Amino acid sequence: MTGNRNRPRIVICPDPLAASREVAQIIAAAIEAKPDIVLGLATGGTPVAAYRELVRMHREQGLDFSELTSFNLDEYIGIGPEHPQSFRYFMQQHLFDHVNVTPSQTHVPDGRGTDVEANARRYEDEIRAAGGIDLQLLGIGTNGHIAFNEPGSPASSRTRAIELTTETIQANSRFFDSIDQVPKHAITMGIGTILESKRILLMATGEGKADTIERAIHGDADPSHPASLLQRHDEVTYVLDEAAAKRIAV
Ligand code: PGA
Repeated sequence: MTGNRNRPRIVICPDPLAASREVAQIIAAAIEAKPDIVLGLATGGTPVAAYRELVRMHREQGLDFSELTSFNLDEYIGIGPEHPQSFRYFMQQHLFDHVNVTPSQTHVPDGRGTDVEANARRYEDEIRAAGGIDLQLLGIGTNGHIAFNEPGSPASSRTRAIELTTETIQANSRFFDSIDQVPKHAITMGIGTILESKRILLMATGEGKADTIERAIHGDADPSHPASLLQRHDEVTYVLDEAAAKRIAV
């Protein structure tokens, strides 16, 4: 990691399915190279098909998840792990229940209880005790957020509670029955936590992400667009479909 602008590796795929396969292949190769890898995982609409592909690789090719440790980026505050829109539930449903992970080695931030900041500090300790994250998967919000680090999140930020922006609540309301049900707060790894990962893999698909991807890669590295701060990291790979890549120069 340096203070300079680094050039990311950019992989442009013809469509979202091809991008999902590419992401799954990168993750599978990393697991095969280091079976006890520490993986950082993401939720949202974007990685769903990549997880489906990893499940297929487990079933058909014996991809072995048993030794790895995982840390998810974020979790809502105010809904528990049994809630179908919680990120723990998402991970069980889309990946963990279908592969041979060791359940105690999968971690999702804990938004429960009265002292979320203590949960956040414990999460940082757990990441450190695991030896740090080897490969972190990220999505990106249209407002440039990575995990739930909303615009204004400093490069040094750590795991903490955060208030979600109206834009994020609106974007995530598609997963809930109504917008009133979307939690207004979350616990999220910080930008500083993410930047300490050894490798970062950001996936984005669809025309709706084209502007934010352009700003992340070509804009100034500035907390007003959190993903632009990834320019400080020297091992970032973007996997995009053509629609999300349409405004970038490669
Ligand atoms: P999405 O969310 O994959 O549902 O677009 C991405 C994000 O908000 O990080």
